[in-house]
Amino acid sequence: MKPIRIALTKGRLEEKSIEMFEALGYDCSEVRNKGRRLILPVKNANIEIVLAKAADVITYVENGVCDLGVVGKDTIMEAGGTFYEVADLGFGRCKFALALPTGVNFYEGYHTRCIASKYVNVARSYFEKKNMDVDIVKIEGSVELAPILGLSDAIVDIVETGTTLRENGLVVAEEICQVSARLIVNIASMKLRKTEINELITQIESFVQEQKERRKEKEAQKEAAAQ
Ligand code: PRP
Repeated sequence: MKPIRIALTKGRLEEKSIEMFEALGYDCSEVRNKGRRLILPVKNANIEIVLAKAADVITYVENGVCDLGVVGKDTIMEAGGTFYEVADLGFGRCKFALALPTGVNFYEGYHTRCIASKYVNVARSYFEKKNMDVDIVKIEGSVELAPILGLSDAIVDIVETGTTLRENGLVVAEEICQVSARLIVNIASMKLRKTEINELITQIESFVQEQKERRKEKEAQKEAAAQ
């Protein structure tokens, strides 16, 4: 039987995804010592890990060359696609926000606002819901540059710690929504490899539940310590 292929998002979500699979007992030593390799075997299971950019995780899962994927809700909201989104993994938490230079009132004046974003679809649908006509310009990375350089009035971007905004003189004007890592599954794989995939999903769900309880415990301890 060919291995189950799981596409993981490189970068931001990579470490936490590997930690999750390790916590479930999967040997990810090959992934940890990947060098420049992009497809890595899990030694103690019939699983292969594929490392890809976020949007490509969706493409590979949607087209069935990977059975499962771990990808941020931000990318899912932006790219869409046809697959099952089966679990909120609870890590990679951040939010979509509208941000702009400190001290600027976004709604002052009558000109059409220009919004820079890597997430043009998310930005468009946010302003459509507000019934507000805006110009949207796509920026591939470090979108904070756009308002600083005077290209846009504001940005729509993901904010995690807020450090990038702060260090570039920008502030959150409006929070759009929370995002976090999700587990996605190819539609055909879900039928064809039902038993293996369901087993994995069950394991992952109990990991997520455990993590949730741990977080709650920690928060309760913090609260108790603060009193
Ligand atoms: C994201 C986002 C911000 C930054 C926010 O960029 O676009 O620039 O992280 O994180 P912070 O609130 O913790 O500072 P990322 O590092 O994913 O790279 P990118 O600009 O290439 O998208």
